[in-house]
Amino acid sequence: MASDALVIFTPSGKRGRFALGTPVLTAARQLGVDLDSVCGGRGICSKCQVSPGVGAFPKHGVTVAADALSDWNAVEQRYKDKRGMLDGRRLGCQAKVMGDVVIDVPPESQLHRQVVRKAASARAVQMDPATRLYYVEVAEPDMHEPSGDMERLAQALKDQWQIEAIEAGPPVLRKLQPVLRKGQWSVTAAVFRDHHGGAAKLLDVFPGFYDGPLAGLAIDLGSTTIAAHLCDLRDGRVLASGGVMNPQIRFGEDLMSRVSYAMMNPGGDVEMTASVRDALNALAISVAAEAVIDPRAIMETVVVCNPVMHHLFLGIDPVELGQAPFALATSSSLSLPARDLGLSAINTEARLYTLPCIAGHVGADAAAVALSEAPQLRDELVLIVDVGTNAEILLGNKERVLACSSPTGPAFEGAQISSGQRAAPGAIERIEINPETKEPRFRVIGSDLWSDEPGFAEATAHTGITGICGSGIIEAVAELRMAGIVDAAGLMGAPAQTGTARSVAEGRTYSYLIHDGTAQNGPRITVTQGDIRAIQLAKSALYAGARLLMDEMGVDHVDHVVLAGAFGAHISAKHAMVLGMIPDCPLDNVTSAGNAAGTGARIALCNIAARAGIEAQVKQIHKVETAIEPRFQEHFVNASAMPHAVDSFPHLSTVLTLPEVNHNMGSSGDGGGRRRRR
Ligand code: FES
Repeated sequence: MASDALVIFTPSGKRGRFALGTPVLTAARQLGVDLDSVCGGRGICSKCQVSPGVGAFPKHGVTVAADALSDWNAVEQRYKDKRGMLDGRRLGCQAKVMGDVVIDVPPESQLHRQVVRKAASARAVQMDPATRLYYVEVAEPDMHEPSGDMERLAQALKDQWQIEAIEAGPPVLRKLQPVLRKGQWSVTAAVFRDHHGGAAKLLDVFPGFYDGPLAGLAIDLGSTTIAAHLCDLRDGRVLASGGVMNPQIRFGEDLMSRVSYAMMNPGGDVEMTASVRDALNALAISVAAEAVIDPRAIMETVVVCNPVMHHLFLGIDPVELGQAPFALATSSSLSLPARDLGLSAINTEARLYTLPCIAGHVGADAAAVALSEAPQLRDELVLIVDVGTNAEILLGNKERVLACSSPTGPAFEGAQISSGQRAAPGAIERIEINPETKEPRFRVIGSDLWSDEPGFAEATAHTGITGICGSGIIEAVAELRMAGIVDAAGLMGAPAQTGTARSVAEGRTYSYLIHDGTAQNGPRITVTQGDIRAIQLAKSALYAGARLLMDEMGVDHVDHVVLAGAFGAHISAKHAMVLGMIPDCPLDNVTSAGNAAGTGARIALCNIAARAGIEAQVKQIHKVETAIEPRFQEHFVNASAMPHAVDSFPHLSTVLTLPEVNHNMGSSGDGGGRRRRR
């Protein structure tokens, strides 16, 4: 009988010969097969589960006998009785190789399982977090060989997990002695290892084998909203997501007004820092409650934000960001204790990582978008716009990536819009205007029915129809343009020009009435001339930023457009192009990436190599500063028309023709289309 056997692992295809009696986990480790283990092969954690195959495997040239692995043992039975295990599964640390065998490692047993899949770039991100759990058995104290409990724990981590050096701060040292004794010298250590090297950090210890939550928080800290994903640091699952309005809004709606607040009010920056940190603590508590875990199980946070938010969150006065040359206090990534930034609601020893900023106006949020969308891996030229209060814009391909930011203001998020509101139940999110009848139909968040469908009134009775959210206002303005109610200059016509009584006079201009709920004590929802101006300003800033990058790249068209941002998913390519938010490109090549900055934060949370990668990549990205670029103003003015005063939109023209109307040339019965602009 042979003294060794062939072991083939799937899906990796790795194979090797091993002495009979070798545990499957040992074989996997020697071949570099991705098989998880927290307990180090002690039969406690069950992370090493595998599915052995039996029978003929012609592809691998092997036939596997029923006794190719050692018999099911008592440790496996105990685990199955207590916690359950799928039939056919074995614990890799218990099952030993007794003959040629093919062993499948299911996805949940892969240490580096894939977590964030980006369909657009066909890229997958693997779990490789900075913080992991390690179960260890620690030597008991010995009077004859005196050493501290921490030193013996460090020795155990070195011997059993090859962690060469580890540090612990007072909070975890205070816990260590009772935990070691309670666990009878067996503990699970939560250990953070920085991608820049140096000693590992002991974040927490638990008696015995700890199978409770180990979580991380990916935070997209926007000027208007703060979004957080609570992720399981072991398998990358999103346990809960939440969002709040940024409380700094009360100090100024946009970034520059917050910088001005800090300039004009001594201590204003400190006030703003405290308010955003309070909001993050409250958000951490609320997402942890939603996931039904203790917030102290949150061991890591990754924060992405624009430069002004970055400075205000770190407690750095943002005043230098308000004036040329827009110098950042630091553009580097930061890795530090979260408690240093006032995040007291999570684990006392939790770590915080911020992605690097790209430039004084292009922040860690743009870096996170670059991490998520990976323009540097693409063959074709892609324009990525992350639409928020400030638009982050990236243009690039394999050869070169450029970035800028553009001050779009909060109009795209429904702010500064007369009937605008946050995307919440009751908000109009979709709207169509019939070009013949000029009548609207719409859908509100919370119901799938259109307003002209039976049952709509009942379906929306509990939420009401409360306003228009960001994607709704974009669609509304584009639909008004497509229906000829608004002309290319953005001017709303009088009833005689538009042919609808829904054009109603308001002061010196006209508004379009979408819904009148006053009879039911609800709001009267209109799109005013002021709303259209706000959207025009926002979209002109966005387009001008994109155009500057195209100038720098020496191109006048792009192959793909990716709309990122919370509502990127809700804007159709057609509407974005009718407005002239984005340059012309094939409509099918306009895709949505959802909250790409948040995805980038999640990627950095789950994979330390991604942190090193984006730190290197940011150095390669060429920055274009819109604020000091003279052509920006020219592009901005031309982009004010819908879709554009100069640039053509051949791909848009293939799907629709925009009506040629001019409401500035009065012809109506009331003495002119426009009642004179303000
Ligand atoms: S490695 Fe922990 S049960 Fe097998």
